[in-house]
Amino acid sequence: MRNILPLLALGLLTACAAPEPQTKTLREAFDGQFLMGCAINVDQSSGRDVVGDSLIVRHFNSIVAENCMKCELIHPEPDRYNWEDADRFVEFGEKHGMTIIGHCLIWHSQCAPWFFVDEKGDTVSAEVLQQRIKDHIQTIVGRYKGRIRGWDVVNEAILDDGTYRQSPFYRIMGDSFIPWALACAHEADPDAELYLNDYSMAKPAKRQAYVDLVATVQASGLRLDAIGMQAHAGMDYPDMTEMERSMQAFIGQGVDVQFTELDVNALPNVFAAGNENAAVENNFEYNQRMNPYPDGLPDSVQTAWNGRVQALFDLALKYSAHVRRVTVWGVYDQQSWLNDWPMHGRTNYPLLFDRQYRLKPVMDKYLTASAQ
Ligand code: G3I
Repeated sequence: MRNILPLLALGLLTACAAPEPQTKTLREAFDGQFLMGCAINVDQSSGRDVVGDSLIVRHFNSIVAENCMKCELIHPEPDRYNWEDADRFVEFGEKHGMTIIGHCLIWHSQCAPWFFVDEKGDTVSAEVLQQRIKDHIQTIVGRYKGRIRGWDVVNEAILDDGTYRQSPFYRIMGDSFIPWALACAHEADPDAELYLNDYSMAKPAKRQAYVDLVATVQASGLRLDAIGMQAHAGMDYPDMTEMERSMQAFIGQGVDVQFTELDVNALPNVFAAGNENAAVENNFEYNQRMNPYPDGLPDSVQTAWNGRVQALFDLALKYSAHVRRVTVWGVYDQQSWLNDWPMHGRTNYPLLFDRQYRLKPVMDKYLTASAQ
């Protein structure tokens, strides 16, 4: 009896240790096609999420900060920057030899309120805002010069109908805030790639607006490397044919594309048809009917979900010559923003790893294909 105890202990340890078998990794599966990225949170960049970190390091070769570089957090007051979390995020990427992406410099949401007003609370002039944008961008991009591959310079500037979002940036500076932000970022780090990033990129009016914007930026001689297509998807959006048309349109305009925030919402759409955007302002009352799978997806839903994920990865592979990166917006299901948006407390299944930290079978076809 005494002799088999160590064996039993070893068996137990083996059963508890690795959350998944030692198969090929996601980054190996897409090696030579595009970078495989994920958004990471501060628990992960600080090492508190040990299991999450083991997946990130093993499966991904690129990271983006889910929150800690957003204006409200990194630059909460005019003369105060919080560098701690952003520094740790960059150090995490460097330690693991990853391609590090900065997110995001100019965004109407999560922007510190001081940005648009003077000491009396009055809206600042275009000249003042211009200077604030410059200081903000050049301080942040300058701090990480040479360490961050590329920046989401402007996030979510255009609405689904193709008009400019009436953000404070737009109301004060008009559309000039976009080329201005690109110019400031380029001056701060001439080697950094620069991106414009947005959701609902399959919508034809939005696609056309971005094609026009890219043309304007190019005509001004400014650097713009890629359009970030966030790729927040659901069971019935986006229309993959329209998604492909958008990829073709952006590539045809002479810029690369990337899926920057991929996830597939498996739950019923709480918005009315046509309102499936990712604006974070809305949060509906919890509603049981809208949270139908607390114990796991039924087979039919899982199969449909797999189809949505594969359609996106297949598109990325089809255009891989012009796709720099596919980044998923989180690592495992329980950490996703989609458990709490647009309704708090739902059980969602949007990511590539499940709640037991296992890589989902949906990715098997790519792991197998790359092994041949
Ligand atoms: O930091 C506070 C924490 O102190 C507090 O205890 C907690 C209580 O709710 O809230 C924490 O802040 C939250 C933060 O995420 C960190 O978890 C904010 O309330 C919440 O609004 C914030 O949500 C983020 C959202 O952007 C808004 O910035 C999501 O995590 C993040 O996934 C999401 O990411 C955006 C992209 O940046 C742009 N594209 C759309 C995408 C999804 O909305």
